Amino acid sequence: MKLKTMAALAVGAALVVGMSACSSSPSTSGTTAPAATSNAGALIGISMPTTTLERWNNDGAHLVDKLQALGYTTDLEYADNKTDEQISQIQNMINDNAKVLVIAAIDGTTLGQVLQTAADAGITVIAYDRLINGTPNVDYYATFDNYKVGTLQGQFIETQLDLKDGKGPFNLEPFAGSPDDNNAKFFFAGAWDVLKPYIDSGQLVVPSGKAPASDDDWQSIGIQAWATATAQSEMQNRLNSYYSGGAKVDVVLSPNDSLALGIEQALQGAGYTVGSDWPLITGQDGDLANVKNMLAGMQAMTVWKDTRTLGDQVSTMVDQILTGQAVDTNDTTSYNNGVKNVPSYLLSPQVVTADTVQTDLIDSGFYTKADLGIS
Ligand code: BGC
Repeated sequence: MKLKTMAALAVGAALVVGMSACSSSPSTSGTTAPAATSNAGALIGISMPTTTLERWNNDGAHLVDKLQALGYTTDLEYADNKTDEQISQIQNMINDNAKVLVIAAIDGTTLGQVLQTAADAGITVIAYDRLINGTPNVDYYATFDNYKVGTLQGQFIETQLDLKDGKGPFNLEPFAGSPDDNNAKFFFAGAWDVLKPYIDSGQLVVPSGKAPASDDDWQSIGIQAWATATAQSEMQNRLNSYYSGGAKVDVVLSPNDSLALGIEQALQGAGYTVGSDWPLITGQDGDLANVKNMLAGMQAMTVWKDTRTLGDQVSTMVDQILTGQAVDTNDTTSYNNGVKNVPSYLLSPQVVTADTVQTDLIDSGFYTKADLGIS
């Protein structure tokens, strides 16, 4: 099984080199009916971080639907954001003879040992959304372009504040994601590469002083486990300590919606009001509560990653693996996990604002009007 996977990987890599990107062509030599037959109904283990953040519930449910429609059996587990629990859930999937593991890691550095067991059992591993680091035993990575998520947030701030035209100074409070999440550093770097020059020029000022000197220092402003409550108290502390003299926050770089929610609650508690002194706030994921807040003027944008397309892509990859076809990848250089470049499939994130909720989120069926409480 492992050999077959490696063969498919080699064919996939050759196709990518030869055809430049995104091949969905099946292998010309390796596709054989027996693989399909022997893997029909195979168990796919899906390991997700937590049910407490909305997106992972959508991701898990959609993956189960797609994989079951392809005839596979699924075991979907959520690990309550605890790495030990994630490791033991993966171990159970291995014991149950899973053929492919789809894993959204809580901490991408903690899975080396259990993935060695998976490799020894001939199981193929797809890192889902978050890269798994420090092990050769991750075969593929499927995600949205994480650096681009941050770039879109940074550019949105740049445009809305007319920074290119020299406007400012504006008071900025930046936040970053969970220090143990490999994606968080990409989100921060993408945004900071746009915004840092404006800090250097004095157009953006950070009254709290929580402005990392470089992309590499992002963990100093990271919010553990992406927790809404922690973001809220961090924002309250900054407001109490650095804005008591009447200064106002103009803009908040929030890497995702769970943090944005806490930041918005802190601002509300401190008396900021929409339409007068409410700052510009970024986000990511298009979580329901945040989309409602966008419609209410409390959040300026979210970077939407249609989790359905990621689930569709990963289900296709699982099926390609188990039927002996070449596996789709479109990037073999961007994501090195410390041991190797992991062949990746990157999808494009997109900006959604209050003005595009209808066209992007409702017309596409991601939400109904009833979900959003509008008619
Ligand atoms: C995901 C984001 C999500 C965050 C918190 C990241 O790894 O890419 O979409 O907002 O985790 O769950």
